[in-house]
Amino acid sequence: VTSRTFFLIKPDGVQRGLVGTIVDRIERKGLKLVAMDLRNVPEETAAQHYAEHAERPFYGDLLSFITSGPVVAGVLEGPRAIEAWRQLAGGTDPVEKATPGTIRGDFGLETQFNLVHGSDSEESAAREIALWFPNL
Ligand code: CMP
Repeated sequence: VTSRTFFLIKPDGVQRGLVGTIVDRIERKGLKLVAMDLRNVPEETAAQHYAEHAERPFYGDLLSFITSGPVVAGVLEGPRAIEAWRQLAGGTDPVEKATPGTIRGDFGLETQFNLVHGSDSEESAAREIALWFPNL
């Protein structure tokens, strides 16, 4: 059963020149790129993307960070794509949760600057793909 997930390489990943490394890991895992786009994030898109975090204390920082520079947004396809991409990314906190061998575990230090995003469920994947790639 093939499924789709949405991913972001956040501004820290793009700025640090890690796009190639991250895309390499995606492709080596066997996930298929079905869309990928370097873009600046409109405030409105950022707010909708992170709507579920609107009440969190870090919400303001999250929005200013994600709109601070270009991101790479994309859609991946494959068996268990959601879980597979989350496995590659590692846990949200790059030190406490992500293990070495994952993107966050290998390249991250702080939760706010954790390099990548991945949808956490079928529902959020559908919502995020529709938000970022309405023509897909
Ligand atoms: P992401 O997978 O994009 O989803 C929500 C994001 O909020 C998360 O990655 C982190 O970048 C960020 N985040 C979560 N918890 C914290 C926190 N305690 N402080 C700052 N940022 C956070």
